[in-house]
Amino acid sequence: MGAEVVIEGLSKSFGSQPIWRDVSLSLPPGEVSVMLGPSGTGKSVFLKSMIGLLKPDTGTCVVNGTDIVRCSEHKLYETRKLFGVLFQDGALFGSMNLYDNVAFPLREHTKKSEAEIKRIVMEKLAMTGLSGAEDKLPGEISGGMRKRAGLARALVLDPEIILCDEPDSGLDPVRTAYLSQLLIDLNAQIDATILIVTHNINVARTVPDNLGMLFRKELVMFGPREVLLTSDEPVVEQFLNGRRLGPIGMSEEKDSATMAAEQANVEAGHHDGGTEDVRGVVPQIQPTPGLPERQGERRRKDRVMQILHTLSPEAQEGIIESLSPEEQQHYGVRPHQLVGAGQHAGGGAAGSTMPLPSEHHGELPAEDVANRPGDRAAESDSGRHTDAQWWSNQ
Ligand SMILES: Nc1ncnc2c1ncn2[C@@H]1O[C@H](COP(=O)(O)OP(=O)(O)O)[C@@H](O)[C@H]1O
Ligand SMILES: [Mg+2]
Repeated sequence: MGAEVVIEGLSKSFGSQPIWRDVSLSLPPGEVSVMLGPSGTGKSVFLKSMIGLLKPDTGTCVVNGTDIVRCSEHKLYETRKLFGVLFQDGALFGSMNLYDNVAFPLREHTKKSEAEIKRIVMEKLAMTGLSGAEDKLPGEISGGMRKRAGLARALVLDPEIILCDEPDSGLDPVRTAYLSQLLIDLNAQIDATILIVTHNINVARTVPDNLGMLFRKELVMFGPREVLLTSDEPVVEQFLNGRRLGPIGMSEEKDSATMAAEQANVEAGHHDGGTEDVRGVVPQIQPTPGLPERQGERRRKDRVMQILHTLSPEAQEGIIESLSPEEQQHYGVRPHQLVGAGQHAGGGAAGSTMPLPSEHHGELPAEDVANRPGDRAAESDSGRHTDAQWWSNQ
């Protein structure tokens, strides 16, 4: 089972520019979580803070009893081995073929024989659909294949936690759907804790067990997917439907006069930019038939049923409807019969003491969104390669 990550009160600024503050959340072991946020809200900064590549100003990020924020260099080096990271564009060494790129962490961090390394590399290339491509250079393959090669590289040290920075960026919708399926299949196979940061709303709707959103330097919400997917919080609703109408503007938050003018335009029939208005809980991607069931999903059911009574009626409904009739019976719940405050659902979950993900409803302060379009591409291809260099290049 993957490791739990417990983040409390994390804040990060660069000089006088705050990026986000007071972020608290837990990634439950072996579950898949997505952090949404408009460009420039600090999603990449958040991932880098989780692995000690950037140092937050305050707060803690605890993995297996080690606080990544304050631990020694040696402890950080050790703890980082628990993480597999897929940086944007795969962050592969351009002069090495895929085989050597994927073998790289094994050669740097382990004393395994070349025969053993070969077995592992071929296994991870097969898991990511890259069998036969081992001799290709990163420049010779498509963006989707580079992402998968980055993922294969992230898998070779058997990580307990996998972090993915915009795995969908630069991919068409079909390739994105394949990558989403691949992440769910990997989770079923290795039961690692997974965090994906993205601004892709289809990934957010269909992939994770838990969903969060960063906006205006705050964690707006983090909790079971059903909570955000049914939320009437304006920022969350606007983002999940890709509309212009709402608090998120072209490069910053809107003032109330702009919002009123846009509302009037829409009421007069002007298109608001959203092409779809999907509300509610859409089915989650399931592992490809033949793979094991996801242990994280099974554990999550017990965990979420314990907190069912604390959730909104819409979220409760979404959760109950996602259960099979047998599971509804097991937990003692039925659709359209919600659990009131103070009551617990079902005895089946009684033994579960899994910590709950924090669900933080931030007060939205009246500051601008950090505003920088795009990301710097990770370039990790100069001179002799060491793993320390690879990390520090990200
Ligand atoms: N190393 C850095 N030094 C100074 N500012 C940075 C650094 N890295 C990121 N930033 C700033 O932090 C903000 C958030 O960036 P980023 O995490 O890349 O956003 P996102 O990934 O959500 O698009 C941006 O305003 C960016 O300019
Ligand atoms: Mg980014």
